[in-house]
Amino acid sequence: MADRERDAALLHVLFGSLESWVGTSELARRAAVAPEDVAPALAPYLRAGYPIEFHPQGRVRLDAPPDIWCAEEIMARCPTGVGGPSWEPLLLAETASTSDVAREQAGRNARAGFVVAATRQTRGRGRLGRTWESPPAGGLYVSVLLRPDLALREAGRLTILGSVAMADAVEAVAGFRPQIKWPNDLVVERRKLGGLLIETEPRSGRLAWAVVGIGVNVNQQPESFSPAVRDLATSLQIVTGRAHRRADMLVALLNALTARLSQPFDETRRAWAASSLTLGQRVSLTTLRGTKQGQAFGLDPSGALLLRLDSGEVEVVTAGDMQAC
Ligand code: BTN
Repeated sequence: MADRERDAALLHVLFGSLESWVGTSELARRAAVAPEDVAPALAPYLRAGYPIEFHPQGRVRLDAPPDIWCAEEIMARCPTGVGGPSWEPLLLAETASTSDVAREQAGRNARAGFVVAATRQTRGRGRLGRTWESPPAGGLYVSVLLRPDLALREAGRLTILGSVAMADAVEAVAGFRPQIKWPNDLVVERRKLGGLLIETEPRSGRLAWAVVGIGVNVNQQPESFSPAVRDLATSLQIVTGRAHRRADMLVALLNALTARLSQPFDETRRAWAASSLTLGQRVSLTTLRGTKQGQAFGLDPSGALLLRLDSGEVEVVTAGDMQAC
């Protein structure tokens, strides 16, 4: 067994019994490692700051860790991957944009399930050429490589699926369900909690790959945001009044993506409708062709938004910016 997988197997057992003692021989048996390998294998995680305790009478325990992470923890806690037996995490201290890293990997034939997260991005980007503020304090910046079996005209499904998975993950970690503002914003009380940037490569009318870039505001305080976005943004910590581990959010996100990718799109579409901020409302929609008003009344099977214009005509919209009127 490669060390990474062996370590992930050990951490899987310890995270499953968080804050309880586990017998070393039971831990070794459940992780399929030799009992004498347990302590040396766990030593680097102890040094990295995971609160692991060894009892003289042959027991081990892991207490709730601080806001640190490692690839083995992510693998340990995301047992089912996409496109392979597991997710393949790469965690960086700093990069220009995690989506650039994932795109580069896509070009090198990396498999679906490659996932890259960074503590800080120096050129984080959002939709429509906007900047995504990515300071080291507080945000989760992550990009996931997928190779979905979708026609190009169904690419909108990924935006819906990604935003529902983000809402699922926030609910699992922070205990509240944010609303989804079409096409790609996660909002709480009209402030932005997260966003999604999908980049795709077409090949013969289908998707060769898609990079799902996700930014979630986890532990920012109001003053962590620049004055330009301070009044428009929020974070899990601001909403719940307590700090959260970025690793918990990443694990919840990957597990939600796995679950949503394995279910019929109709179910995700229903979950989207239940969390949508603007469904059924009168909205103003700006696209490259100008601004139109009407009622957003649903999604079509390809993931495009259905807008009933004031003229009664139905417009199928795949991209744009939406505001409630
Ligand atoms: C938006 O709301 O406009 C989308 C924001 C997406 C931000 C994420 S952070 C991780 C990934 N890397 C980037 O440069 N952007 C996405």
